[in-house]
Amino acid sequence: MAHEEIVERYSGLARAALSGERITDCGTAEFGEGRFGAAGYGDAAGLPEEALRASLGCGDPVAVAELRAGETVLDLGSGGGVDVLLSARRVGPEGRVYGLDASTEMLELARRNAGRAGAANVEFLHGVIEAVPLPDRTVDVIVSNCVVNLSDDKAAVLAEAFRVLRPGGRLGISDVVTDDGVDAVRRAAAEARVGCAAGTLAVGEYRGLLAAAGFTGVDITLTADHGDGVHSAIVRAAKPAIGPGLEIRPMRESDAAQVLEIYQAGLDTGQASFETTAPSWEDFTAGKLERLRYVAADVATGEVAGWVAASPVSSRCVYAGVVEHSVYVHPRHHSRGVGRALLTAFVSASEDAGIWTIQSGVFPENLSSLRLHEALGFRAVGVRERVGRHHGTWRDVVLLERRSPVVGR
Ligand SMILES: C[S@@+](CC[C@H](N)C(=O)[O-])C[C@H]1O[C@@H](n2cnc3c(N)ncnc32)[C@H](O)[C@@H]1O
Repeated sequence: MAHEEIVERYSGLARAALSGERITDCGTAEFGEGRFGAAGYGDAAGLPEEALRASLGCGDPVAVAELRAGETVLDLGSGGGVDVLLSARRVGPEGRVYGLDASTEMLELARRNAGRAGAANVEFLHGVIEAVPLPDRTVDVIVSNCVVNLSDDKAAVLAEAFRVLRPGGRLGISDVVTDDGVDAVRRAAAEARVGCAAGTLAVGEYRGLLAAAGFTGVDITLTADHGDGVHSAIVRAAKPAIGPGLEIRPMRESDAAQVLEIYQAGLDTGQASFETTAPSWEDFTAGKLERLRYVAADVATGEVAGWVAASPVSSRCVYAGVVEHSVYVHPRHHSRGVGRALLTAFVSASEDAGIWTIQSGVFPENLSSLRLHEALGFRAVGVRERVGRHHGTWRDVVLLERRSPVVGR
């Protein structure tokens, strides 16, 4: 279904709700069994009956979003406004909740429901979730209920979510997903039968798009089984945290010159690696895993403050979850917590990607690196003695590793 048709469909449902009808966008069996709509909420007591009747969700994203007083929340595809009103209660008068929807009729319904609820800390915005009308890094938490599956550009939705979130911001959404490996014909039939989905993502696809957008700490929990491999799910993820004025995001081609300059500055200290000259960008990218490369960037200037990346340690399949990483910080940005933030994000992203062991060799003289790694759960396996010559001197290397407590337990 094209975007315009989807919006027209929901506008029609909003008109029906505005005239007092109970609405549903799913098969009535699914709705009746409480798998969609207001039945999915744990604590909606006190919300206007009109808002609950207009609920077209497939779960309770606000329940898992762990909202705190004073936070700014954005609800993608806010419909009749239930999740906006629930969020507004949690963030309190110091907080603010935006509801974004492409249907003007849905916005009218939501504004009417907010008026009935007496919610003063909410604002409804007209627009699409593929191009969010809010500035960069202005939102603490994104919630959404049964909407991402309706988008024909889900990569853009997640990229926009990442853009508007502040570093450390969280995503908590309820959506319809498919099991990995369900064939296309069965998937389409199941989606049509459930009636709510215009095109679900498989769980693995969802994880891939979240990682490509820059999210870490990804968790997808199936919450209701609609048969034939289709489920409701709660999808959680976070934008990596870092100190003020900085942002951690996936490394891009346009970062090449700055990444290699920082690499060379690290090598010039004589404490970073046996290498003495940074590789070409082609060699750098050929050796590093594509999904596990991040930069920390100054949000005002775009300047890259540091980077982290990893290479596989072996092509043997038994080592498929073992990588060797490097983390480099620009000399101008030392002592700002950049290395720690990059490494924290990297550890989380590597676990999302199914990596069970991260290893690295560090010169014993590089005490700050040893301390940082120890603080983030790395242990010294041992000291490899006189393992290589560096500027004519045989040097020892401390072999560090971090065995994930969550992957491959
Ligand atoms: C299934 S309803 C869910 C509404 C609400 N989240 C709830 O739980 O009741 C989908 C909502 O998303 C809106 N929508 C669909 N596609 C959209 C898009 N690309 N951008 C913004 N809103 C969209 C529709 O207008 C509708 O209000």
